[in-house]
Amino acid sequence: NLIMKSAQTIGVLVPNLGNPFFSMFIKGVQSASRQHQFIPLIFGANHDEELEGYYLQELIKRAVDGLIIASASITGETIDNILKKNGIPYLLIDQNGGPSLDRIRIDDDRGGRLAAQHLLAFGHQRVAVVMPEHATQNLVIRLRGFREELAQHGVSLTADDVVLSPMTKLGGYQATAAVLQRHPTAVFAINDETALGLMRGLHEQGVRVPGDVSVLGYDDIDLDEYVVPRLSSVHQPVVTMGERATELLINRIHNRRQAAQTVDLPVDFRQRESTGPVK
Ligand code: RIB
Repeated sequence: NLIMKSAQTIGVLVPNLGNPFFSMFIKGVQSASRQHQFIPLIFGANHDEELEGYYLQELIKRAVDGLIIASASITGETIDNILKKNGIPYLLIDQNGGPSLDRIRIDDDRGGRLAAQHLLAFGHQRVAVVMPEHATQNLVIRLRGFREELAQHGVSLTADDVVLSPMTKLGGYQATAAVLQRHPTAVFAINDETALGLMRGLHEQGVRVPGDVSVLGYDDIDLDEYVVPRLSSVHQPVVTMGERATELLINRIHNRRQAAQTVDLPVDFRQRESTGPVK
């Protein structure tokens, strides 16, 4: 039978299709969708709120059965005016939409702590962070875990040690001067793309990694293995995250009344070559 009762479509909105983290997420979305005979419509909004609103509206016009929204710029207003008003099941990634929503929760607190423990073990005491100004909830938790773990070992990370820059390769690159001004012995970049851009910037300034400065990323994207030096990072199970998010959403589409579900996923540390002992 080629004709289905419902279109069996889900809309997926990610902030940046150029980031391999989201390609892997989509890989998970696709495989779980396929298993359940759903088709995902995927959009990258390029961190652009207006474009995001546009895609959401268009997806709803096309009567998608549900939505997965992984976006830093989605506002509570959009959620209320577009999603809730239209009664469409949705799942937010990286944001806590309240207790009544299904959630995928990655242990960002532990991720931040693992990052701190690794740098502490190498003797680092002067540490900087690069992260975006408008951070999603998971990043706030990641930073908090990192900061608390440092503090527990007598190392303080002040607001001034946090360089605010967009969470992209270019953002990392452009943060180079501000990072160097702070004379850190190690930098924790809030995601790998930022770390890769920063490594390029440091290289151009003649700063050696990890000889002069250690650089630590987050996500464990495939590129980490291919850059010189290979990037140390915190692994996120992002394909599984895409699969579980899709399963939660499809369950919700089939059974709107069931209680909100939460899936917890772990992180772990991947030591490579970009971090080393303090000189
Ligand atoms: O690289 C994308 C980042 O945005 C990841 O660290 C992920 O957790 C999301 O918040």
